[in-house]
Order: sequence, then structure tokens, then C-alpha cells
Amino acid sequence: MVQVKVEKAKIDQRQTSLLVIGVFEGDLDIMQSKELDPAVFASIKETLQNKEFKGTFGSSILVYTLGKGPMKKIMLLGLGKKEKFTDESARICAGKAAQKAKELATKEFSILQFSNLDEGLIEAMAEGVTLALYSFDKYKEAKEPSTKIEEIAILINSDSPKFQSVADKASHVAEAVNFARDIGNLPPNDCPPAHLASIALSLAQEHGMKAQVIDRYELENMGMGGIVAVGKGSNNPPKLIILEYNGSSDPQQKSYLLVGKAVTFDTGGISIKPGEKMDEMKFDKCGGCTVLAVMRAVASMKLAVNVVGIVPSVENMPSATSYRPGDIIKMYNGKTVEVLNTDAEGRMILADALAYGIATYSPKAVIDLATLTGAAIIALGANVAAIVGTNKQLTDRMRKLADKTGEKMWELPLYDEFHDQIKSTYADIKNIGGRAGGAITAAAFLSNFASSTPWVHIDIAGTAWTQDGTHEKSYNPKGATGFGVRTLVKFLMEDEKQAV
Ligand code: BES
Ligand code: ZN
Ligand code: ZN
Repeated sequence: MVQVKVEKAKIDQRQTSLLVIGVFEGDLDIMQSKELDPAVFASIKETLQNKEFKGTFGSSILVYTLGKGPMKKIMLLGLGKKEKFTDESARICAGKAAQKAKELATKEFSILQFSNLDEGLIEAMAEGVTLALYSFDKYKEAKEPSTKIEEIAILINSDSPKFQSVADKASHVAEAVNFARDIGNLPPNDCPPAHLASIALSLAQEHGMKAQVIDRYELENMGMGGIVAVGKGSNNPPKLIILEYNGSSDPQQKSYLLVGKAVTFDTGGISIKPGEKMDEMKFDKCGGCTVLAVMRAVASMKLAVNVVGIVPSVENMPSATSYRPGDIIKMYNGKTVEVLNTDAEGRMILADALAYGIATYSPKAVIDLATLTGAAIIALGANVAAIVGTNKQLTDRMRKLADKTGEKMWELPLYDEFHDQIKSTYADIKNIGGRAGGAITAAAFLSNFASSTPWVHIDIAGTAWTQDGTHEKSYNPKGATGFGVRTLVKFLMEDEKQAV
């Protein structure tokens, strides 16, 4: 993994193969001439003045220093309009710089702070580089370039050590995101529920967490009808994975409960999906991957909070043993569900996990993440997750954090009327609510299992992997994105601060 160092800028002495300098659009005044060799400075000035390079967002140009100065090359990197520049822009631009540097086959490079120094800027730059350098090449014989970037120095105009610790935390979180991507990208033949369970067990061992994996027959005995029903159609049995991290010094401190959908492959079951893009349903485990990654980040940073992560994992297959439309299933909390579409399986497994987690841990709040509905993509597109909750404070907090992290989330309303759409003739509720407001009726279904605990549901169907309609972003390479990891870790870090 790449090392990110933060150092006081001494550009005239900085030995580096590449120095990246961000330039705002229309801002020709990039730096003091005394910091660069006069000839190099003149060359850059000319490039800017004759409009060869205008500083438009994401553009770049290389300037060779020909031995004049300690850096071999300088890359001017367009930051776009100054008044539109945010931490998210810094994340994207830093990611762009890292990808360009990778093309140049260099082992290290340096990058000047893009704008006014603050913690948000350094965090975003550190995240951007680590996330953008991710690639999934486990299944390729020819691995990515042999020269890997090992070290990146962010050069700043301060010698305060706090910025190094900001970058260190950002690196931990970005590594966790890359971990979520690594599991999310696994093909379904190599990642049945048992594999996810074994990943969770090693994670727990490595980072000192309690772990528990509940198997099929025990799930049945415990009354987890939803998980058992969906898991029945596959030869790969279902698993309920539970990780517990206790970092708070106060043992009375209630836990946060995180629940993540991990359908290792969603064919739709008996209500089978059309063939087109069915392969993408290997990403139907991404909610669970995010939960595992958040647990890893929280434990590796030793945050002073208590968190329980629950990942119900199944493979949704059509077979002679599958659950069927028409089946009525008794769930963990005693409610009965009439199955009218076996492709609405995510809510069936989440329902049991939510009810079990709440009954067992009495958490102070519950957050679930799931690639739950195509309707969430229809409503908000492939770049914004839908959030629905029962507690305004909690949803507002999550939404505000999402604005900072660039993991865009928008709230959909859970009006009472939506509950009418999932009333069943033969059971307490049914598992589909019709085409209208599909992302909300799915949430309405889940709310039946969240009792009165503050709960927020994040539908990441559009954002969990790069798909049709995804806006390209340097720091989200093709495949699983690890969406939600950064926002949830920030959420728990914020809570840690409140606790002390
Ligand atoms: N995993 C899918 C949701 C999904 C679809 C995520 C496309 C990302 C892209 C989920 O299990 C599902 O199939 N949902 C159905 C629900 C319907 C039957 C009520 C859907 O969205 O079509
Ligand atoms: Zn489905
Ligand atoms: Zn699904």
C-alpha cells in the first residue's frame, strides 16, 4: 500500500521525480519565482500565458526541468474554478495526479497542497491518491505495471505534525475502502457466503474483535425464516456473520449496529432475472462488504466506540429447493411475510438480521446498507444513494456527512401511506409493494423489523459499483467502489469525539 507523507514544502530542495502543482483556472500566479529555477519558472509561465494549459478541472500538462532543479518533471494539474473548489474536488484531483504518475512509471512523487491548508484538504488529498491507485488484478496473469508507486509526499506550508496524523487516518480509511472493493469484486464462484464468513473470521483475529458465524441449521432453530428461505435454493448454505468491536472505555456505552446485505449472487431465484447484466449481481454483496470494511477501519484505528456489524449472507438461486412466490415465511421477530417475488430477497435477509441485532444488542442506533432496489437507481440515478430513516437527527447527520465525503446521499420520505402498499391478504406483510416508490416500500418493509430503535437505511444499488450512468471519478476505478465506508467511519469518529 502506498505511503502518504506530509512535509513542510521546501521546493527548491525537494528531490523528486515528479512535482505536481495544482493550478486554478485563470490563475497564472502559481508560485513565487524564487522557489523554482528561473528557466523552469519561465517555461511554466509561458505554458500558462499562451493558454496551452488553462487549469480546467482535471486537465494536466508535463514540464521537463532538464536538470534545472531537484525535481525531474513538473506536472501542472487543473483544479478548475477556485470558487467551485471543494474537498471532493481535491479528492478527485489528487486521484487524477496519482493515476498520471502511475502512467509515468515512477515510484514516488510529490504534490503541493492544492489550496488553503486545513485538515479536510489533507484528508481528501490522502484519500484521493490511495483510492485512485486501486486496481483489482487478482485474476489477471499479467499484473499491473511492475513499478508501483510506493510513496507520495504532500508538501504543505506548515510544519505542524497534526497534518501527518490526518493523512495517516485517511490512509487507514482508504485502505479499508480498498478492502471492501477487493471482496466486492470477487466473482461469485469464489465468494460463496462461507468465504465471506472466513474473511470476517480472519479480520476479527487480526484486529481483536469478537466474531461469530451462525450456520444454516442454527439459523433455522433460531427462527431466522427469512435468511433460511432465501438461502434454501443454493448449494452454498447461508451464513449470518457477526463482528463485535468494543473500543469504548465505558462498558455501559451502547453499541451502534451496522447491518449489510451480502447476497453473493442474485439471480432473482424462481422470479429469475433477465440475462442481461446478470453478472453484475455479484455486486449484490457490497452492503455486507462495506460493513466488514467499516469494522476493520474502526478496529485498526482503535476508535473509542462500540460497534456491532451483522452481515446476513446468502446466494439467491433458482432450484428444486428454492423458496417460491406464494410462500409465507415466519421471520425472526414473529411477523409473517408473503413472498410475491423471490427477487426481493435482500429485504428478507436484512429483516432477520435487523430484528436479531436489535433484540440481542439493544443498540443506540442502527444503520443498514444494501444494494436493495433497482427503483433507487430510477429515483436518484447511479451516483446518489437513497437514504430512508425513522429518526430525523440520525438521517440529517448521515446526509451532512455524505456531503463532506462525496458519497452522495439523498433522503426519500417514509410517509405512512407507503405501509399500505405492502399489506398482504394472507400474511402480516408482503415482500413487494408494486412499481410505485419501490425504494421506499422496500424501506417500509424493513422498518417492520427495526422496532423503535433509531434506524437509517442506505440503498446503494446505484453507487456500490461503477455501472451504466456512473459519472467517472478518478478515485473510483472500475468495479466495486466501497461506497459508504468513508461516511460510516466518519460517523463513528464523530461519535467518538462526542464520547470524550
Ligand atoms: N439486488 C437487487 C437490486 C438491484 C437491481 C441492485 C439492480 C442493483 C441493480 C434486488 O434484490 C432486487 O432484485 N430487487 C428487485 C425488487 C423487486 C422485485 C420488488 C428490483 O429492484 O427489481
Ligand atoms: Zn433480487
Ligand atoms: Zn438483491
